[in-house]
Amino acid sequence: MSSRIFKDRNKLSPYYIPKKLPYREEQLRILHSIYDAMIKNIKNTYPRFIQIIGPTGTGKTCTTIRFGEQLVKYAEREGVNLKHVYVNCKVDGTTRYVLFRNLVRKLTSKISTRSLSPEEMIQQLIEYLRLEGIFALLTFDEIDYFVQINPKEHIVYDLTRVMEASPGKPSPIIGEIFIAKSLRWHSFLDSREKSTLGIGVIEFPRYTDLQVREILSNRVEEAFNPGVVDEETLDLVSEITASPPINGDIRVGLDLLYYAGNLAENRGFDRVLPDHVRKVYSEINPSITSEDIMSLDRNGKMILLALARSLKSSRSAYIGLRELRRSYEVICEEFGFKPTERFEETVQDLIYRGIIDMKSLMELGISGASLTDLEEFLSSLMERLKKEVVNE
Ligand SMILES: Nc1ncnc2c1ncn2[C@@H]1O[C@H](COP(=O)(O)OP(=O)(O)OP(=O)(O)O)[C@@H](O)[C@H]1O
Ligand SMILES: [Mg+2]
Repeated sequence: MSSRIFKDRNKLSPYYIPKKLPYREEQLRILHSIYDAMIKNIKNTYPRFIQIIGPTGTGKTCTTIRFGEQLVKYAEREGVNLKHVYVNCKVDGTTRYVLFRNLVRKLTSKISTRSLSPEEMIQQLIEYLRLEGIFALLTFDEIDYFVQINPKEHIVYDLTRVMEASPGKPSPIIGEIFIAKSLRWHSFLDSREKSTLGIGVIEFPRYTDLQVREILSNRVEEAFNPGVVDEETLDLVSEITASPPINGDIRVGLDLLYYAGNLAENRGFDRVLPDHVRKVYSEINPSITSEDIMSLDRNGKMILLALARSLKSSRSAYIGLRELRRSYEVICEEFGFKPTERFEETVQDLIYRGIIDMKSLMELGISGASLTDLEEFLSSLMERLKKEVVNE
């Protein structure tokens, strides 16, 4: 069905990467200056580790994925068979075992990971690459999240010492990129890990007001029909996105545009007005974006839904863990799912992700939601979650 408002609403999805990434040219240039030379001299490469550091929504993920595509193309022109494998620790595995298994699977279906230990998986991966003459660049996104929940797994040790089994031989893994929100994740590393990781850091600073406006304006052009989004509307979205508590997280700006566009459409408007943005903004919680919700597994979503519902019916900002469990079980029954045995771990995971806020076992709430706007926010969150859970 064609829409009066949207030309292509997918262009506002958090997973869509636009052709141009304004204000990230410098970061891309640095990445190229490091890895292009290795492609040129591929027979003598040793892996280079780079860290990408910057706050939420500053383009770390999309820039790195774009860089991977560009490097693969460049390698192709140089006659090098290069693959970029991107794993997101929040999505692809919260244990070393699962994460490495997914890493291997993304690269090839020819290695059977059953009965292999995580170390063996990496070893097999390297042998496979050597045998096939393939080179790889590996990206580990949200590594800070992983090391925080698994401080004893020493994944960075495994990943940065990969080449030690065959010293002196050039490596089929040309590099690894680790993405984190700040350098604080180093406090979970031991000294050997810190030393092999090195000090190559590329910073992704917060976008300024003007930068936010330009980035969002480009997306408006791609996603909306001409003239649908007023200058004033764009000004308001940019202003909200650039100032606290959002502080330049582009994802929130995209969400605002998306939901405001839907609202305008549902109400039969042919333009998106500042009022639509205000209405939507009062209903979304700036600290939980659609991407956060989409990246949860089914149990995570159901527990969050249970929390939203209990908070709403109890009319308070916090409920106890026991009450949450009861509410979760009711919801499972409603949807016909078996409750998870890992209930407490899943709650803990939501706390690590910054979605649930826990003051004590008796006080669980939703991060960033103040009492005044809780009610409206929860109803819209419940609608979103219901749709998500049903779609699973
Ligand atoms: N310079 C840019 N130009 C266009 N779109 C951008 C730019 N920077 C970010 N975005 C968009 O903003 C959203 C968030 O970007 P991204 O996911 O890369 O952020 P991030 O730094 O990885 O955040 P987080 O730390 O939360 O993972 C994406 O939808 C992305 O397409
Ligand atoms: Mg990211």
